[in-house]
Amino acid sequence: MAHRVTLSAFLLNERRKTPALDPALAGLIKDIEVACKYIAAAVSRGKLAEAKASTRINIQGEEQKPLDVIANELVLQTCESCEHLLGVVSEELEGPYPIPESRDGRYLLVYDPLDGSSNLDLNVTVGSIFSVLRAPEGVKELKPEHFLQPGVSQVAAAFSLYGPSVMLVLTLGRGVHGFTLDREVGTFFLTHPDLRIPEDTREFAINASNERFWEPPVRHYVEECKLGKSGPRGVDFNMRWVASMVAEVFRILIRGGVFLYPRDTKDPSKGGRLRLLYEANPMSLIVEQAGGASSTGRERILEVQPTELHQRIPVILGSRNEVERLVRYHQAYDRGEDLSFKSPLFASRSIYKS
Ligand code: AHG
Ligand code: MN
Ligand code: MN
Repeated sequence: MAHRVTLSAFLLNERRKTPALDPALAGLIKDIEVACKYIAAAVSRGKLAEAKASTRINIQGEEQKPLDVIANELVLQTCESCEHLLGVVSEELEGPYPIPESRDGRYLLVYDPLDGSSNLDLNVTVGSIFSVLRAPEGVKELKPEHFLQPGVSQVAAAFSLYGPSVMLVLTLGRGVHGFTLDREVGTFFLTHPDLRIPEDTREFAINASNERFWEPPVRHYVEECKLGKSGPRGVDFNMRWVASMVAEVFRILIRGGVFLYPRDTKDPSKGGRLRLLYEANPMSLIVEQAGGASSTGRERILEVQPTELHQRIPVILGSRNEVERLVRYHQAYDRGEDLSFKSPLFASRSIYKS
């Protein structure tokens, strides 16, 4: 049998590098690994797993699915004995949850227990998203503001996929690595070392049913893509929408692409669809670490200073050249330039050129 690197061996190897990986962080990643195995088992049982959960409307105003509740509990149960964790924030909890066993609480965990859960009834890929932050020193009582750190402060980010195969995609700030669960052995093995996102792409992902709410730069970009060979881009584009950010980002890690959940006017009070702390930030770190880019259209997501735990934000991420093009379109729009195809700028100005 060919030599296979387990996630544990990978972490051990990272601990030998310079700078060495903190053993406490390696321990937390192993807890995340265990939680993902439990959630994978529950998700694969589908309806059979649902009986025990009582659901409600969560802090987002969204109706929980039984597996949202089960997955949230499984992460809490797994992390409760993690002595290096000070507290957690979850999509499914209103406020921070302090870890009772914490003795040396130097990390904070922020997570989306199940992403894409509208797909659960359809047996389509879902996943979990994790962001690890350093806990401020000398904290006596855990407060929401301890978690309000910009994405650049993350020490690790990961997401799992519960699909035809179970995967864990991880960054510790030194590239992005994918592990696949060998279910018969119960172990994650390194299968996708050093994932790199191609700089160019001919594939975009957006929920087109929101088109009437989009801003002109996004409308313009999508219109150009749809015009394909006969349009200004001169090439045909492909479109995908899984409605699971984890699945979209994994596709982008494998073959490139751009994913948009942009600012829209659907509910101006929300500032976007996706949540900054446990969706946009960890996925942006992973995408940047794989050579891609991530922006709101107006600023780098990882530099946004969070103001609320469940804050939402516009997200544009993926292949670097496409994200940069979208940023240029936003800048042109904010300068008051005409982005319609009738504009004389359209054919002549460099922002539209590839
Ligand atoms: P969650 O299931 O954690 O609430 O997140 C779902 C998110 C994200 O995964 C996906 O990109 C988006 O919501 C789907 O939105 P639409 O329902 O508008 O397609
Ligand atoms: Mn989500
Ligand atoms: Mn979720």
